[in-house]
Amino acid sequence: MEKQYSFVLLLLHLSVLVLFPFFHEGHFTVASSGTKDGSQQWGYVEVRPKAHMFWWLYKSPYRVENPINPWPIVLWLQGGPGASGVAIGNFQEVGPLDTNLKPRNSTWLQKADLLFVDNPVGTGYSFVEDEKAVVKTDDEAATDLTTLLKELFNKNENLQKSPLHIVAESYGGKYAVTLGLSALKAIEAGELKLKLGGVTLGDSWISPEDFVFSWGPLLKDLSRLDVNGVAKSNSLAGKIKKELQDGQYIDATNTWSELEDVISDNSNAVDFYNFLLDSAMDPLSLTSLELSKEITIKRYSRYLNSMTSSPGGGDDDLDTLMNGVIKKQLKIIPDNVTWGGQSELVFSGLEAEFMKPRINEVDDLLAKGVNVTIYNGQLDLICSTKGTEAWVQKLKWEGLKSFLSLERSPLKCGDKSTRGFTKSYKNLHFYWILGAGHFVPVDQPCLALKMVGDITQSPAISTS
Ligand SMILES: *[C@@H]1O[C@H](CO)[C@@H](O)[C@H](O)[C@H]1NC(C)=O
Ligand SMILES: *[C@@H]1O[C@H](CO)[C@@H](O)[C@H](O)[C@H]1NC(C)=O
Ligand SMILES: *[C@@H]1O[C@H](CO)[C@@H](O)[C@H](O)[C@H]1NC(C)=O
Repeated sequence: MEKQYSFVLLLLHLSVLVLFPFFHEGHFTVASSGTKDGSQQWGYVEVRPKAHMFWWLYKSPYRVENPINPWPIVLWLQGGPGASGVAIGNFQEVGPLDTNLKPRNSTWLQKADLLFVDNPVGTGYSFVEDEKAVVKTDDEAATDLTTLLKELFNKNENLQKSPLHIVAESYGGKYAVTLGLSALKAIEAGELKLKLGGVTLGDSWISPEDFVFSWGPLLKDLSRLDVNGVAKSNSLAGKIKKELQDGQYIDATNTWSELEDVISDNSNAVDFYNFLLDSAMDPLSLTSLELSKEITIKRYSRYLNSMTSSPGGGDDDLDTLMNGVIKKQLKIIPDNVTWGGQSELVFSGLEAEFMKPRINEVDDLLAKGVNVTIYNGQLDLICSTKGTEAWVQKLKWEGLKSFLSLERSPLKCGDKSTRGFTKSYKNLHFYWILGAGHFVPVDQPCLALKMVGDITQSPAISTS
């Protein structure tokens, strides 16, 4: 396995620049490049005028040709909003190489081809030439992603043979369900040549109201908040509920930020991505909304960096990698585009959307017969399992009662210990992942890999 991966890395060095510029109404719409052997391709699609989305496709060296059971492709959608899938999902979670560019033995390439995107525009290497071009809603993000999929799939019959599985993390779940519906609509209209394999929601921000109500009671049961802390937390959650009812969505985002601060203050800085840890930040210095948003984004990448434990590792590592060696190897990133440079712009663009629920979209996908998989890390706080279970209860889907009454099956991986549980009824599937926080593939790589193989019904020859 090691050999194959160093080979992948080597090919990256030998990559040839193949630019395919298409001029369309004066806009530079497509630029792409790849490795000589075609195992990796990447490029930009101008999804709207002045809005450029970066994508990176890895074809699996483990591919098994099986006409009855085609090799799947996973589209990974990162959260944030404004977090880079091309960097975090790829180098820190499921891609073939880690942030030290060493092979990752749990890469999801073992089960599927992987498509990473920096979504929405303004995230990672994706950029807008005019700040007004950032998206304001999940639907706008879904429309841009659908445009990207049309560009990539419609002219490529090989790609069309692979069912596309949308797999999301965190805020990415809101894009995943809106994209699932948008893609289906385009497929039905004959505008998109693609087979949708399913939608998977990993620790996803589907119902912010249910998550904010889960935080206080959960932390109280864990001894991380006391009765006073839980009272303050519940009171702010109630305020958020009212703001959402009244359509005051920006206020709800502000109150969410305030609530995170109150919980930090009252828990001595619990980590929102793993409630067994302390946040590496000093949240007591937070006062204004602008600051706290910035901190929230920083917290997110800092947590992952602390998990990758590279020597001298810190917040700057990913930045150095993406603006250094990777940018150089990719060759097509414009000089004046800094990786991650517009992520706060992306967050601000979505501030009126951030707290809106997307439960109805999950219902719509279920009603259309699409396989919907939910997985949740046991130790996650921000998208807690308690909150996820609460929004699942709100589904109007006809199979819900049967789903809820089913027993779960235990999951193991590598050894005899129980690593999780799962159950499925018709097209709804749920995985409870023990010992994992928000970033499930980082904390439980063995089980996450096994799970993605099951979700995508990968024909990969099982190694475990
Ligand atoms: C992957 O590497 C980790 C240590 O880095 C090791 O514990 C684990 O057993 C390895 N897994 C496989 C499938 O080789
Ligand atoms: C980069 O420079 C080009 C050419 O000067 C300009 O058109 C473009 O808007 C710039 N892009 C960004 C993100 O600043
Ligand atoms: C949904 O997943 C199951 C396996 O879990 C599979 O048998 C079925 O064909 C899938 N349905 C669709 C519509 O893809």
